Amino acid sequence: MRAFTYRSAFAFLLVFPDATASRPEEHGTCKAFPGTSAWPSQENWAKFNQSTGGKLIKPGSPPGAVCHPGEPAFNPDECSIVTAAWRTYDFHQNDPISNMWQQFNNDTCLVDPSAPCSGAGYPAYVVNATTAMDVKLSFDFARKHNVRVIVKSSGHDYQGRSQASGALSIWVHHMQSHKIHNESFKPKGCKFTIETPAVTVGGGSQLGAIYEELDKINRTVVGGASKSVSVGGYLTGGGHSILGPRYGLGADNVLEVEVVTPMGNIVTANECQNEDLFWAMRGGGGSTFGVMTSVTVATHPTPKLVAGIIAFLSPSPSASWTWDMVGYIASSLPYLASKDVSGYAFFTSHINGPDGNNGTGSFAGMGGEFMILDTQNINDMQEIWDPLITHVKATWPDAIITLDLNPYPSFQSWFSVYYDQNTAGYDGYVGSRLLDEKALNQSAALGEIFKHSNGTAYLVAGKGVRDAKPRGGSISVTPTWRKAIVHTTNGHVFPPLNATARTEALNIINNITEPLRKIAPDMGAYVNEVGFLFKIHKDLLTHKYKNNPSEPDWQHTFWGENYERLLQIKRAIDPEDVLWCHPCVGNERWEQIGYRLCRTDQGSTKGARQQHPVAQ
Ligand SMILES: Cc1cc2nc3c(=O)[nH]c(=O)nc-3n(C[C@H](O)[C@H](O)[C@H](O)COP(=O)(O)OP(=O)(O)OC[C@H]3O[C@@H](n4cnc5c(N)ncnc54)[C@H](O)[C@@H]3O)c2cc1C
Ligand SMILES: *[C@@H]1O[C@H](CO)[C@@H](O)[C@H](O)[C@H]1NC(C)=O
Ligand SMILES: *[C@@H]1O[C@H](CO)[C@@H](O)[C@H](O)[C@H]1NC(C)=O
Ligand SMILES: *[C@@H]1O[C@H](CO)[C@@H](O)[C@H](O)[C@H]1NC(C)=O
Ligand SMILES: *[C@@H]1O[C@H](CO)[C@@H](O)[C@H](O)[C@H]1NC(C)=O
Ligand SMILES: *[C@@H]1O[C@H](CO)[C@@H](O)[C@H](O)[C@H]1NC(C)=O
Ligand SMILES: *[C@@H]1O[C@H](CO)[C@@H](O)[C@H](O)[C@H]1NC(C)=O
Ligand SMILES: *[C@@H]1O[C@H](CO)[C@@H](O)[C@H](O)[C@H]1NC(C)=O
Ligand SMILES: *[C@@H]1O[C@H](CO)[C@@H](O)[C@H](O)[C@H]1NC(C)=O
Ligand SMILES: *[C@@H]1O[C@H](CO)[C@@H](O)[C@H](O)[C@H]1NC(C)=O
Ligand SMILES: *[C@@H]1O[C@H](CO)[C@@H](O)[C@H](O)[C@H]1NC(C)=O
Repeated sequence: MRAFTYRSAFAFLLVFPDATASRPEEHGTCKAFPGTSAWPSQENWAKFNQSTGGKLIKPGSPPGAVCHPGEPAFNPDECSIVTAAWRTYDFHQNDPISNMWQQFNNDTCLVDPSAPCSGAGYPAYVVNATTAMDVKLSFDFARKHNVRVIVKSSGHDYQGRSQASGALSIWVHHMQSHKIHNESFKPKGCKFTIETPAVTVGGGSQLGAIYEELDKINRTVVGGASKSVSVGGYLTGGGHSILGPRYGLGADNVLEVEVVTPMGNIVTANECQNEDLFWAMRGGGGSTFGVMTSVTVATHPTPKLVAGIIAFLSPSPSASWTWDMVGYIASSLPYLASKDVSGYAFFTSHINGPDGNNGTGSFAGMGGEFMILDTQNINDMQEIWDPLITHVKATWPDAIITLDLNPYPSFQSWFSVYYDQNTAGYDGYVGSRLLDEKALNQSAALGEIFKHSNGTAYLVAGKGVRDAKPRGGSISVTPTWRKAIVHTTNGHVFPPLNATARTEALNIINNITEPLRKIAPDMGAYVNEVGFLFKIHKDLLTHKYKNNPSEPDWQHTFWGENYERLLQIKRAIDPEDVLWCHPCVGNERWEQIGYRLCRTDQGSTKGARQQHPVAQ
């Protein structure tokens, strides 16, 4: 395979040096970029490679190149394989440079042979990091040569934070170790032991494997709904879980982290040392304060539970009673939370309806997956829902109500059926909002919102998150999580290589999210967002979500009053802005111009300036 080169794209810069004179990068105001004089030489890269014991990868061509007849990598057999795999999480997580949502590669090499193909939207080099030392060496090299750094684990990120053109990617996916602490855990440097069983995992470990490992000893962790999401992005963003209403956020359960800082120090952060970093790493966002090379989290006894699919549907999507019913169900979520129900509700204006209707009709309403813990008696769940069923039957007699409940002896036995089985490999954005009891009290507004949005409401906060006792007293997620009952998301998929459609998608998301901001003005949103959909009843619901980089005042939307402290920590730990991403704490001093990352006006303190990773 021919090595991908940026040379052709930037040839004009070399031929006409004057053209670069007005460009800031030659004066150190931009990060070095492939094809420019500031870019490290082959020899530098080779030396760096040697220092890592040969872990540096120079991507030959982007993964979609096998489908493009004009590319040296073209290979029809490979193309069929890659095309078939393109929609899977596995493909993108296992590839050193790919990521799940292709607009973050600026659609520069789709598997579609009729689309253009170049490596322009992909990182220039990858370190296949397996040790903290690999990460340290990468940071040291990047600092010395002013190279932009990104961190990729699974590549799931809905904000595109694990992707950048012309960057050095620290690929942590292969940091997958697990070490179980059966009885207790002693944080390094602390004089005491935490009397909680725990597990220490590598910084790229994925939730599915952790669940599986712990299930062998009848325990589990607070984790997300996808097997492939990794602790790297999940815990640094806060991490919500169907077990959250019992045990808090994922980050509330963290006991210690090992971090390689952007200045190249390998440190342990816990409640006894590097406390600020410990706080920031638990909710302050991925690839901002350093690379988490390992993390220790509390484990919990695996719960027995009752769970299943519950739907309240209307055969008349356009009838106004349909949305009255939806509003009623949404406004019943605080009641359900008070009964310790957790789960994921999906509101939709159109689905092909449940099995009982032979999957033919068109329905609107709510379908969701719900759970209660510590019981094997499905009547316990039925009783909680009875008042809703009675009210809906009495008020909207045409409603179709289905409850399909089962007992599960362990978290893993439920997860192995209900884990996220959706797909990746397309373009789209997601919107998010945290909702408190007050917002959820507005039944009519909620009905109207979901009528226009196909939104979700995840019952993943409530009591357990409100009452969580994180080590050291607090973590850095927006404090509004403690008031939230529900995290709601919405999304819009758009066709690739269509700038109008991309802009329109952002507008659609903003339009959908705006009324949510109105009913929950101070609640903010979840930085990791969530754009997935479970398989419910033969694709009962089929919408797909991605991320929205245009959330206004994202600093306070994602971190609330914690933003200023996070910013101070960022400045102290990464004074040279080695790590930069959007939307990430402290990114205000740089902005992306085309594919380049350049300094903004130094005096500027404007925080809310829009800095889209690739989207313009
Ligand atoms: C199918 C699906 C289901 C999801 N379900 C849930 C859910 O149930 N609950 C929930 O809270 N969220 C959920 N999410 C959102 C998820 O938390 C985010 O997508 C998260 O960013 C993924 O992290 P990652 O490490 O897997 O991905 P990546 O894209 O590799 O990384 C995400 C961010 O973290 C950084 N990062 C990764 N590893 C490290 C590390 N070791 N040290 C420092 N920074 C690192 C990256 O640079 C990037 O900024 C889901 C997402 C998907 C796609
Ligand atoms: C790094 O070194 C390894 C083995 O020494 C080699 O296989 C690999 O191609 C090198 N990477 C680069 C980018 O040269
Ligand atoms: C990355 O490193 C892991 C662990 O050593 C190895 O199994 C894997 O093949 C490497 N991947 C690539 C693309 O070099
Ligand atoms: C932890 O407990 C499991 C089973 O209960 C056992 O197999 C394992 O050896 C124990 N591990 C340690 C480190 O004690
Ligand atoms: C896990 O629970 C099952 C069922 O209660 C029990 O049979 C098994 O011994 C337990 N395993 C461990 C490692 O405790
Ligand atoms: C589903 O199909 C069966 C067999 O064709 C039919 O008897 C039944 O009435 C159908 N049910 C609905 C709700 O349409
Ligand atoms: C919900 O609304 C009712 C009146 O409609 C009010 O009495 C109640 O206090 C509200 N609850 C919350 C939590 O806002
Ligand atoms: C909701 O999703 C359905 C099914 O994909 C679609 O037909 C409908 O237009 C969507 N509604 C909105 C408001 O986006
Ligand atoms: C691009 O998207 C816009 C907005 O959705 C649409 O009107 C237009 O037809 C699309 N263009 C192409 C070439 O598909
Ligand atoms: C968003 O809402 C505004 C104001 O109501 C409207 O003018 C615009 O057309 C909407 N945009 C989209 C893409 O729906
Ligand atoms: C992304 O690709 C489009 C062409 O599809 C191009 O016009 C645009 O400039 C690219 N974005 C960046 C940041 O270069």
